[in-house]
Amino acid sequence: MAVSTDLSLFAVTLLSPILCIANFVARKAREAAAKPWRPEDKVILITGASSGIGESLAYTFSHAGSSVILAARRKDELDRVAERCTELGAKDVLVVTTDVTSEADVENLIKKTEERYGKLDCLVLNAGVSMGQTFDSLQNLDVIKRLMDVNYMGCVNVTFHALPLLKRAPKSRIVVNSSLAGIAGGPYRTGYSASKFAVRGFYEALRADLWDQDIHITIIYPGAVVTSINKTRLGDRPFDLNMRGAMTSEECARIMFEATCNGTKEVVLTGKGKLIRLLEASFPELAALLIHKVSRKMLKG
Ligand SMILES: NC(=O)c1ccc[n+]([C@@H]2O[C@H](COP(=O)([O-])OP(=O)(O)OC[C@H]3O[C@@H](n4cnc5c(N)ncnc54)[C@H](OP(=O)(O)O)[C@@H]3O)[C@@H](O)[C@H]2O)c1
Repeated sequence: MAVSTDLSLFAVTLLSPILCIANFVARKAREAAAKPWRPEDKVILITGASSGIGESLAYTFSHAGSSVILAARRKDELDRVAERCTELGAKDVLVVTTDVTSEADVENLIKKTEERYGKLDCLVLNAGVSMGQTFDSLQNLDVIKRLMDVNYMGCVNVTFHALPLLKRAPKSRIVVNSSLAGIAGGPYRTGYSASKFAVRGFYEALRADLWDQDIHITIIYPGAVVTSINKTRLGDRPFDLNMRGAMTSEECARIMFEATCNGTKEVVLTGKGKLIRLLEASFPELAALLIHKVSRKMLKG
């Protein structure tokens, strides 16, 4: 079995120049189908817009002249973000207090979007929470269930209700925030990682479902980004993360904005993230070692 795997790897390595060219051509063809798409005059709905990456992305789209719909649970924080979006040049701003785990809240969010704009050009699924303890230190499964509820079912919930509106807009987009933890599992993150793997699986399958329709799905895999996510971690918090060298939320938002405009299929942030993505398919032992080393370094603080 191992010999045949190694032989397949050898064959793939020999063919790699041809595969690279074929991959490039396929990518260009897909991206061409997603264009032109200019952010001005577009309606963008962002979940988790009250802080961090979602907040920065709301500013980026506002600066580009889009209309932005800001969704999260904290109304006061959404109002603060909305004010800044208007200052930055948003065409229009709509705040809808929403818990993505509540179907009634999400129905209300989409109803308000439809009433105000009649369509939706781009849905950004960004709301999320994290955790920071080993599985064997949990007292019960509440943290694991909550992570799946917010990070995975929250995305599915909003997508389900928004899809009819997305179908009304040409070349519409779904942009979803997974994580490097959605590509490879690291320590202290079982429930978080599982929810982000689920996101990847769901949106890859949805892309296949919607293959012939004009809806373009972008999956983002950020590495460490400086936001409040580690302060709001669920469960016990036995350690502080070392965020030295982490990306700013503004930089992350800029990359997400470009990927959205270009209709890019996926973006893996950070050099180490890209290396892990490359290695995990063909060299899983090396990928596991790299993840272990990167995670340990962050945990040392
Ligand atoms: N920061 C990183 O290092 C990193 C790395 C990889 C991936 N990500 C992903 O990026 C996304 C954004 O995280 P962030 O780093 O920007 O963290 P953040 O600053 O803590 O923002 C999280 C956002 O999600 C919202 N949210 C949480 N639970 C919600 C719920 N039930 N319903 C609606 N909104 C909810 C929060 O708003 P309210 O509290 O007001 O509801 C907040 O706006 C997450 O999906 C995260 O997993 C982050």
